[in-house]
Amino acid sequence: MLETPRGTRAGESIPPGDFGKRIIDLARRLARFSETPDALTCTYFSPAHKAVAAELRNQMQAAGMTAAVDAVGNVVGHYPSAAATAKTFLIGSHDDTVANAGAFDGRLGILTGLVAIEFLHRAGRRLPFHLDLIAFAEEEGVRFSAPYLGSAVVAGRFDDSLLTRTDAAGVTLGQLLEDHNIDLAAIRGLGRAADTLCGYLEVHIEQGPVLLERNLPVGIVSAIAGSARFRVAVRGTAGHAGTVPMRLRHDAAAAAAEMILAVERRCATGGALVGTVGQVAVPHGLINVIAGRCEFSLDIRAGDDATRDAAIADISAAISQIAGRRGVTAEIAEIGRHAAVPCAATMQSALARSIARAGVEPFHLPSGAGHDAVMFAGLTEIGMLFVRCGNGGISHSPLETVTEADADLAARIVLDLLANLA
Ligand code: HGY
Ligand code: MN
Ligand code: MN
Repeated sequence: MLETPRGTRAGESIPPGDFGKRIIDLARRLARFSETPDALTCTYFSPAHKAVAAELRNQMQAAGMTAAVDAVGNVVGHYPSAAATAKTFLIGSHDDTVANAGAFDGRLGILTGLVAIEFLHRAGRRLPFHLDLIAFAEEEGVRFSAPYLGSAVVAGRFDDSLLTRTDAAGVTLGQLLEDHNIDLAAIRGLGRAADTLCGYLEVHIEQGPVLLERNLPVGIVSAIAGSARFRVAVRGTAGHAGTVPMRLRHDAAAAAAEMILAVERRCATGGALVGTVGQVAVPHGLINVIAGRCEFSLDIRAGDDATRDAAIADISAAISQIAGRRGVTAEIAEIGRHAAVPCAATMQSALARSIARAGVEPFHLPSGAGHDAVMFAGLTEIGMLFVRCGNGGISHSPLETVTEADADLAARIVLDLLANLA
């Protein structure tokens, strides 16, 4: 049994705290590093992203960890056990963001782990396992359409084919790494062996309204939805907007619009199935030219892979049928697919006990969002703690919000979990 601060379980003995205030203040501090002056955008290896990594490394060191930025930009803090040969428990989430993001997606999980380790350090407590706190780079996949890049490397699942992915400026991931003198051997060396790990925990905002509606501050994630992402390229016939009769047109944009509505219709069939077209473009489009090309993104998710895959099959068939009827072509290119993963029952029950000890009703819910945790499923036991979001649960928006009280509770639950994991 773990020696815990002043003889009782950490969850009970932690003095009424400022964990929450510290977490929120640090999140606001990190949010100041952005690629855009009037919103938070922090994408892979941008100057803002590098500044966030340096700030997190410094904060981790100040909290009692050794810390460094690894070859792919992850910030890895290490809080060693008293036992040199101990296994390592990972606490992680991501420090990159979407465009016009909120301050807590990803960062809440990193900072909750940081304040928990800081508490242990100040209390002079060591655990029977090493603790590594990792701020993963490029979880969102905004720059290279390569979600989970940083966590995939740590999980030993880096996919070399991502090296040819290009960003908006046409720079490949491989070129970027080469420009930073990063070689693939260094990347491969970052993979953790399963037998060195004893678990993975990610604290994350729920990014939805469920906890808010149930008036619960935290929840236990039961499973993480499986996702598949595509790019659809529609090709029709460009023409003069004023002279081509409607009945003779092969309008790529109008065809794409009908396809997008077919996605919405198919995915509105209920359950956890969702379909999103977040990007639509008419390359070199002009106001007085019938669109010869139209490209759109596709993100399909469900709580289980069979439901997701059935929807993908139906949507592909609908796209082909619409293209045929309209005399256009449509190419569907898959850019990524991740299986739905369950969170470990052991971690779910450990979280439930810690939440109950904190005086809160344990509540299990699935995650529609993807998280770095999916990379560690199969490698070690994964657990996720959701924290309530305000403003109707909105996320991927500057309206994202978390209360100090809920952040404080999350930190206490993490400490209680760590104190009782053994
Ligand atoms: O897309 C997602 O689910 C996450 O925000 N990366
Ligand atoms: Mn996100
Ligand atoms: Mn996230």
